[in-house]
Amino acid sequence: MCGIIGAVAQRDVVDVLLAGLRCLEYRGYDSAGLIVVNSQGQSSRLRRVGKVSNLVCAAAKTMLLGETGIAHTRWATHGQPEEINAHPHVSTNIAVVHNGIIENHELLRKNLQDEGYTFVSETDTEVIAHLVNWEQKKGGSLLEVVQRVVLHLHGTYGMVILDIYFPGILIAARSGSPLVIGCGRGENFIVSDPMALFPLTRFFLYLEEGDIAQISCNDIIIIDRHSNVVQRRKIESHLEYDSYDKGVYTHYMQKEIYEQPQVIQNILAYRCKNGLISFDELDDSAYALLKKAQHIKIVACGTSYHSAMVAHYWWESLAKVSCDVEIASEFRYRQSVVRENSLLITLSQSGETADTLAALRLSKQLGYLGSLSICNVASSSLVRESDFALMTNAGIEVSVASTKSFTTQLVLLLLLVTKFCSLKDKQSLVEQDTLESLEKLPTYMTQVLLQDILFSELAKELSEKNHVVFLGRGDHYPIAMEGALKLKEISYIHAEAYAAGELKHGPLALIDTNIPVIILAPNNTLLPKLKSNIEEVRARGGLLYILTDTNSGFVNSERVRIIFLPHLKDVIAPIVYVLPLQLLSYYVAVRKGTDLDKPRNLAKSVTVE
Ligand code: F6R
Repeated sequence: MCGIIGAVAQRDVVDVLLAGLRCLEYRGYDSAGLIVVNSQGQSSRLRRVGKVSNLVCAAAKTMLLGETGIAHTRWATHGQPEEINAHPHVSTNIAVVHNGIIENHELLRKNLQDEGYTFVSETDTEVIAHLVNWEQKKGGSLLEVVQRVVLHLHGTYGMVILDIYFPGILIAARSGSPLVIGCGRGENFIVSDPMALFPLTRFFLYLEEGDIAQISCNDIIIIDRHSNVVQRRKIESHLEYDSYDKGVYTHYMQKEIYEQPQVIQNILAYRCKNGLISFDELDDSAYALLKKAQHIKIVACGTSYHSAMVAHYWWESLAKVSCDVEIASEFRYRQSVVRENSLLITLSQSGETADTLAALRLSKQLGYLGSLSICNVASSSLVRESDFALMTNAGIEVSVASTKSFTTQLVLLLLLVTKFCSLKDKQSLVEQDTLESLEKLPTYMTQVLLQDILFSELAKELSEKNHVVFLGRGDHYPIAMEGALKLKEISYIHAEAYAAGELKHGPLALIDTNIPVIILAPNNTLLPKLKSNIEEVRARGGLLYILTDTNSGFVNSERVRIIFLPHLKDVIAPIVYVLPLQLLSYYVAVRKGTDLDKPRNLAKSVTVE
């Protein structure tokens, strides 16, 4: 987490830094700060608790001028979100912004205290500032000093260092947290996400693991982990910047929910032509690998984990290949057995989630056939480090709560499973069936979104509750989990999801007249079983909200609300059933007045474990 931006220019960079921080705020918004230095070596540092807007207001009232600067928006790991813990951290002439966690910070702190350094914050980052200052006393350029400093650091970092006494140069180091150099004309930048530089440049150099870079106005030197000077390929980005405009919507989340039918329509138009699915990104070797796969392992976190869980049902029911799904933070720290000819799939919106990335790196030592990433950010670490990647093409997702990245992941997964069926069996009819079902998906999604007044009304009742239970069976169990996650993360209402068949094994004890129970009841083969589970809840006085087909036989009654959705083919039902849950969470959060695009304690890109 945390957003970093640095600039070296021949003009004042305060506005560049502040505009960049606004763009990076999705990475954390506990506190923000910057330091700028002018060519005479005069520096000013400003830090504020809370959102970047607090820093922007303070900057407007402060005399800040400088052609070299670094800035940071923080998601607290070590130390409370207080001004004293906000970055940049300074040790006499050395200023540092840092994303990541220095695991041996306590030992380093103790050693530096013994050397006479005084710490003013509780952060691990202040250790880096003092360490650079201490190493600098032994001589060498700042680049050489940082090369020596990183040898002391255990953990992860993307950091940018500035020597106030020698402005015009920034040193950046990457290990576990992404950093990208933006190349301007007579000015250069360093940033944790290239999007923050789109108004300034479209040309980027992605630092690789272990790289240390020296950046000045007209020169960039990159040293790799083996201390060799290296060139990194300059990449031009063609991403759209206008996604940062909310348009007619009040919130990014609302905009992103409503974008889904169009985004999916575009994906289908691009990927499905003449009755066939095509993946331009995959070459012959990728297809050979897919053909060879006898087992699928999917690793992901959060919402991406939920889409992986849905895909688990598809891999086994449609493609008849075994699949297991695991949370990345669990997978990376346990001893696992790799089944023969297993393909590892990682799923991630950002492609920078620390645990998912670590899981991918671990898989390379474990004997997987290969790795395929399904991701929304083409330039991300996950995509660059995977053998093959498929883009979800959801467009930029700004809201912290994932919506369109979830449904586009599902579409991509369904296309992949379907393609796999055709690869394994040329006679397979799955491709034809899936494409027929998907054709109508955008229309069904639009029909559901058009009922938004109904969901806004239902949200009135839900917003007064403290606990909500979600139930689903089969491939709708992960959708129930996603509904519960959406509700808790943006409305702060406690929500739990259960596989409906599990109710009587414990959770039924929770049910009383105060607990709303939201049930996903598509008209499929599991409906009769689900109806029995619904009766068990009804008999205990639960307040039921049933999402179902028009012809599934439910009727409204006291304490039972039926929400009718279109009749759907089984394979696309989960992709449609999540929409009412997204809308419900959105409207509950609106009623509760939470900062729903930036919910408390969360950040969009989880780059620390
Ligand atoms: C929830 C949400 C998170 C992310 C999770 C993984 O709405 O957005 O749970 O899904 O942090 O992020 P990615 O997909 O970027 O790896």
